[in-house]
Amino acid sequence: MDNRPIGVFDSGLGGLTVLEKIYKYAPFENYIFLADQKNCPYGTKEESTVRNIVIENCQYLEKIGCKEIIIACNTASLFIEDAKKTCKIPVISVIEPTATNACSSSKNGNIGVIATDLTIKKGRYQKIIEGQNKSVFSVPCSEFVDYIENDITNIERGRTLVKEKLTYLKEQNVDTLVYGCTHFSLMEALYKELFGNINYIDCGDSIKEIAFEKIERTTNKEYGKIDIITSSNAKEFSDKMGWFKININSIKEKK
Ligand code: DGL
Repeated sequence: MDNRPIGVFDSGLGGLTVLEKIYKYAPFENYIFLADQKNCPYGTKEESTVRNIVIENCQYLEKIGCKEIIIACNTASLFIEDAKKTCKIPVISVIEPTATNACSSSKNGNIGVIATDLTIKKGRYQKIIEGQNKSVFSVPCSEFVDYIENDITNIERGRTLVKEKLTYLKEQNVDTLVYGCTHFSLMEALYKELFGNINYIDCGDSIKEIAFEKIERTTNKEYGKIDIITSSNAKEFSDKMGWFKININSIKEKK
């Protein structure tokens, strides 16, 4: 039995979509969620900058006593090998399981991937999906991150963004759309307006089982706490996460 918390991090709100699925799957673990708002967005930064941020966040979560790190961010997941080299605890990333989930869901073999500019540029999703003999159509959508973080109540702007960026994917007859950025699950209703009844693949669903394969679980049924640490302003983050319906134990600022 291992009662230490599980560390989860992202540049912001997106990681909460992963935490929500993981928490529902394993509600008796304790979780520490690091919202790295100070460095948001990751997806338009230089590779070397994101690499350093990922290493720093993983080292921090290990130092404060986590038993595992879940990188709840695709852009940060690009640097999992760098993170693994510096951490002694298991580090889990979202890209491989999400891409594989998409491949097994698609019937017509046409898969759309939407992700940040850096994730699309690095081509990891494209490589895995093509390696499983499917056709992949990808669109860099870092604009969605800013919309989700700062303007998500403006539905008309969201609808216009989705139309502008994703009509191309609709024309490719994709039967599966991968949210290759954890923020993007928060715009699901808008994709459904455009694509209708296709498969929608999100990272949380894709990793929730895998996330527990390498660790000992707690047996303490009193557990199930979520503590949030933000690298920016606690009140600001708390105001943005009204949609997250799971009880939060605390929100603190990183020292
Ligand atoms: N949520 C992150 C991802 O999955 C990226 C958002 C950002 O650009 O910071 O890639």
